Amino acid sequence: MNPVLSPDLTLMAGSAPARAPRPLPKDLPDVLCGRYRIERLLGVGGMGAVYRARDLLREQFGDPQPYVALKTLSEDFASYPDASALLYSEFALTARLSQRNLVRLYSFEIDPASQRAFITMELLKGCTLDSLLLQYPSGLPWAEAHTVSLNLLEALQHAHSHGVLHGDLKPSNLMLGDSELRLFDFGLGQALDGFLTGLPRLSRQRFAAWTPRYAAPELLDGASLSAAADVYSVACVIYELCSGQHPFRRQSAKQAKAMELPLNAPADLPRPLWPALRAALAFDPTQRSSLPSLLQAFRAARQPTSRLPRWLRRPAT
Ligand SMILES: Nc1ncnc2c1ncn2[C@@H]1O[C@H](COP(=O)(O)OP(=O)(O)O)[C@@H](O)[C@H]1O
Ligand SMILES: [Mg+2]
Repeated sequence: MNPVLSPDLTLMAGSAPARAPRPLPKDLPDVLCGRYRIERLLGVGGMGAVYRARDLLREQFGDPQPYVALKTLSEDFASYPDASALLYSEFALTARLSQRNLVRLYSFEIDPASQRAFITMELLKGCTLDSLLLQYPSGLPWAEAHTVSLNLLEALQHAHSHGVLHGDLKPSNLMLGDSELRLFDFGLGQALDGFLTGLPRLSRQRFAAWTPRYAAPELLDGASLSAAADVYSVACVIYELCSGQHPFRRQSAKQAKAMELPLNAPADLPRPLWPALRAALAFDPTQRSSLPSLLQAFRAARQPTSRLPRWLRRPAT
């Protein structure tokens, strides 16, 4: 199995940029829990490896689509004593959400023989946004960029309103399928105060494996995750969808601030939307737009005729 290296490289906090994918799980059994047969690697990220697996139980009962995506931790994370709690936290945060633009989780399990923890979830088909953006150096056409941005903001609004912060919004954690966007990977997510109070609070700093150029500056300074931090990241993704470019030339917010990089409106973005998007990219979290106001601005923008499903099925150029 060849690891798939995302172009969206992840950085381990306090270390050099990771130029190689994280080590794949060692000695992963072919069949986990006597039920899930691993078929092939789908992708690797900062913390986990995701495989396509066949659910033998569903297959036995004649399910024509017995496939699931199975996520387990990469080798260096799997060796943490509380690795299973880390993965369980991702499961618990995501499992309480139900919205069409959020990945659906099925189960959290531990294989008795290998003691390996894993999550099963819906198998997503399509293309991650980082791969899609490589094909669109000037950004998606506005009609499609608008639809995808709205899907993304609605998914995030659903998560926040159910007490869940994502913590790692970036193009490689978004998949565009046949007609819809799906947000996944709540591995660095956290519950808002008062939600999921029994869940162990795992230190984000300890497991930090996020991509600095999408991280809000206060997170890089060690602040804890907040709704405002998610807004900064989501605004970076939306800016990139609209223009093909990262808002600050792929620099982290701290570097962009130090370099006093200018922030220009994406050419195709309707003018009335720019103040909301620009404010969502504010380095000062107290000056940043709130998620509801950003969502409201995108909802209010004149809805271009959405051709997303047809556009996705277009012949490759
Ligand atoms: N449900 C899924 N269906 C299909 N592919 C997936 C699914 N979840 C993740 N992937 C693929 O695996 C990659 C890594 O998954 P992710 O959950 O982001 O791991 P990490 O926490 O290590 O970043 C993704 O970028 C994507 O390519
Ligand atoms: Mg990821």
